Amino acid sequence: MDRKKIIDLVKKQEKWRREECINLIASESVLSPLAEKYYVSDFEGRYNEHDEETHYQGTKYSFEIEEICNQIFRERFDTPFVDVRPISGAIANLIVFSAFLKPGDLLMSLGIQNGAHISSSRYGAAGIRGIKDVSMFFDFERMNINVEKTIELIKKVNPKLIVFGGSMILFPEPVKEIVEEIEEKIKVVYDAAHVFGLIYNKEFQEPLKEGAHVITSSTHKTFQGPQGGIIIGSKNLDEDWQKIKKTIFPGLLSNTHIHRFPALAITALEMNEFGKEYAKQVIKNAKTLAKCLYESGFDVLCPELGFTESHQVILNVKNFGGGKKVAEELEKNNIICNKMALPIDLPEDATKNPSGIRLGTQELTRWGMKEKEMEKIAEFFRRVLIEKENVKSEVIELKKEFNEIHYCFKSEN
Ligand SMILES: Cc1ncc(COP(=O)(O)O)c(C=O)c1O
Repeated sequence: MDRKKIIDLVKKQEKWRREECINLIASESVLSPLAEKYYVSDFEGRYNEHDEETHYQGTKYSFEIEEICNQIFRERFDTPFVDVRPISGAIANLIVFSAFLKPGDLLMSLGIQNGAHISSSRYGAAGIRGIKDVSMFFDFERMNINVEKTIELIKKVNPKLIVFGGSMILFPEPVKEIVEEIEEKIKVVYDAAHVFGLIYNKEFQEPLKEGAHVITSSTHKTFQGPQGGIIIGSKNLDEDWQKIKKTIFPGLLSNTHIHRFPALAITALEMNEFGKEYAKQVIKNAKTLAKCLYESGFDVLCPELGFTESHQVILNVKNFGGGKKVAEELEKNNIICNKMALPIDLPEDATKNPSGIRLGTQELTRWGMKEKEMEKIAEFFRRVLIEKENVKSEVIELKKEFNEIHYCFKSEN
């Protein structure tokens, strides 16, 4: 194999996804130029294993940068308990489930058919630990948890841990309403992977104030940092936080990809300065995109609720051949999104050809797009999927106008 092939692939990826595509995958993002510049450094390839003490020499700077990350999040979430070592959101979930649950214990989540991430199910991290799972009751019309029936179910099946949050999430969830009615000993986790950037900027919900004991998250979706994970514990977690720390190390992690910490800290500081405006625009863009798609004749979920309060827009595209076909059709036009199972899908359709597609506005917002561009993108959808036109060259032209990352530092000082 020629090394030129590898370099060529990177160049092709950069040109295609950065310069020529309308990226609507709700779980992706781009780093700011400053964060990207400091993403690769000598920290790459080093170790910083630690519990009460460090286990390697040469770690004074890596320890300091890790601590700076933790401190920024501690201040933001008003809690002493933050750990940025988990290398991804799924691993953050595995750590928390392993700390709190034994094989055979019962975990309750939204259910993957209703938007829970696979890591909270029998098929993912929870299942690997031998944890059993049960789904909350979910109302498709409101795309949210049915509080009354879920409380009843909790009392009946007595789960040891409940996971709120999910990969398909349009609205804040009723954490407070449910936590108030259940036994204190049940651990409550909010998987904020998708909406972390909105939560960080206080534009969605405040899970810890609403009664969650722990937030788990990725750091690279609406929070547009480097790919990685984070665990944040509520102020009064104490002993349980020690369990989580022990599960991180020596439990499940050895290297923690410390090269991502400078980029994470820079992103967090950028969020502190520009995040409010960014988060507001992400939501405005999602609402506008949803409304324009709806007015173009698409079955956008939850019209009577204003479609969305997050970065996501969900479409039922069963009448267009299903989510897989539609996402592939859009990709031919350089519009990138993903198929999505909806609560109404039968299990056999859920993975192969689900009814939905999921769109996210966080990346386009970072590229500086606003309501006017959302109208244009909805128009592209109509022309591709209803008029059967090809709009690829127009997509490339539109993206060309937005080639600079916004809501970030412009210099090193
Ligand atoms: C709700 C939720 N939790 C966890 C994860 C896993 O995160 P990661 O990809 O960082 O492992 C995802 C991934 O998309 C997710 O949507």
